[in-house]
Amino acid sequence: MLTPNLTVSEAGRLCFGGADTVQLAREHGTPLYVMDENTIRENCRGFQRVIAEEYGGRGLICYASKALSCKELYRIVDSEGLGADVISGGELYTAVQAGMPAEKIVMHGNSKSDAELKMALDCGVGRIVADNLPELERLNRIAGEAGKKARILLRIKPGIDAHTHDFVKTGCIDSKFGFALETGEALEAVRAALQYPNLELIGLHCHIGSQIFDTEPFAEAARVMVRLMDTIRTECGVTLPELNLGGGPGIKYTEDDDPPAFGSIVRAILSALKGCCTALSFPEPFVLFEPGRSIVGAAGITLYTVMAKKVIPGIRTYVLVDGGMCDNPRYALYGSRYEVLIADRAAQPRSEQVTIGGKCCESGDLIGENMPLQPAEPGDTLAVLATGAYNYSMASNYNRNPRAEIVMVKDGAARTVVRRESYEDIVRNDV
Ligand code: LLP
Repeated sequence: MLTPNLTVSEAGRLCFGGADTVQLAREHGTPLYVMDENTIRENCRGFQRVIAEEYGGRGLICYASKALSCKELYRIVDSEGLGADVISGGELYTAVQAGMPAEKIVMHGNSKSDAELKMALDCGVGRIVADNLPELERLNRIAGEAGKKARILLRIKPGIDAHTHDFVKTGCIDSKFGFALETGEALEAVRAALQYPNLELIGLHCHIGSQIFDTEPFAEAARVMVRLMDTIRTECGVTLPELNLGGGPGIKYTEDDDPPAFGSIVRAILSALKGCCTALSFPEPFVLFEPGRSIVGAAGITLYTVMAKKVIPGIRTYVLVDGGMCDNPRYALYGSRYEVLIADRAAQPRSEQVTIGGKCCESGDLIGENMPLQPAEPGDTLAVLATGAYNYSMASNYNRNPRAEIVMVKDGAARTVVRRESYEDIVRNDV
């Protein structure tokens, strides 16, 4: 099985987090997102352990809630000592409603509205990551009006593109996020930020990409950022105390994926960071990380009901399910690959090669193509694995499909943490 939280019962059914998935599908309906609380907690602890062992605990892990945002998740990560990275008023609202202490929240966004900046200040978020010069000006004004001083980090494009085989050091200049390092824009932003009376510049931020397996681009980004902090010390006379190195560690989606051991990316980053600080006699900064996918990705699966099978001789076999791009748009968007299983007969060999089609009115509404699967029958429960990240959070009401329920399982027991949308929910804002 892909991950240890997946097992097969004596009856041959797929179990997740100790719960029988066929039974979950019957009791809660499908499509159904199932999250395993123990896996989420283990992953949080894994990151905390690395920071404790390698860096004396001088850091904060801020769960990147864009991967999956709902109240219960903020409660879980908060109870494990993590904070949260939020990127919109909606994520911030959810986190605060869940009781996440605002000082552990990092507010992101490259196009934050005045209302979102004001909300962040009113809530008292610990850090706002500023993305561009007009935002600095607006934030200074809004903070002044609120009688507050905003604690900010500047988002820097360190010029490292980790999404290439040989990562390159110029690729990221073409990114909508943050200030470019190599053009001098970053230093200019530091100077601007230092002049605003209602902003307190406490550090820098970078994020080099997502679903990355290679440790070296992360390590290099850490070195680049420390060098920039050193330049800022020399040029501007300030020693910034914080460095946020974003998220990005990759996870195992398919049997072919071979990500580095959990935590090894953060270990490599911290080792590079310490080495660079020593070399430059720069004080080791307080660090922040923002893992999203690596906390919740493998902690989730999605269950569907097989509605029909269409064999197109010589072409392909479609297995049609009762969800699709409305609950998982990642194949349609990125061609992302997943493992699928017939939960009712999980131990049987996956002897067929199929395309999983969704219910949306669109030919590209697929969960995947060329997927090995047990022979499927209408009424079977189909499980898509490792869907905990960027599935529910990217779900839509396309075709006015209600968004699916999320159940959280823990040691075999399940509870609903996000209710299934109703048709009334769908028309709630229609006038
Ligand atoms: N911090 C920042 C500033 C980010 O932009 C992101 C992800 C993260 C942290 C978390 O990255 P993670 O640890 O989850 O890789 N929708 C895409 C992923 C987009 C990620 C965007 N930013 C997908 O489904 O693969």
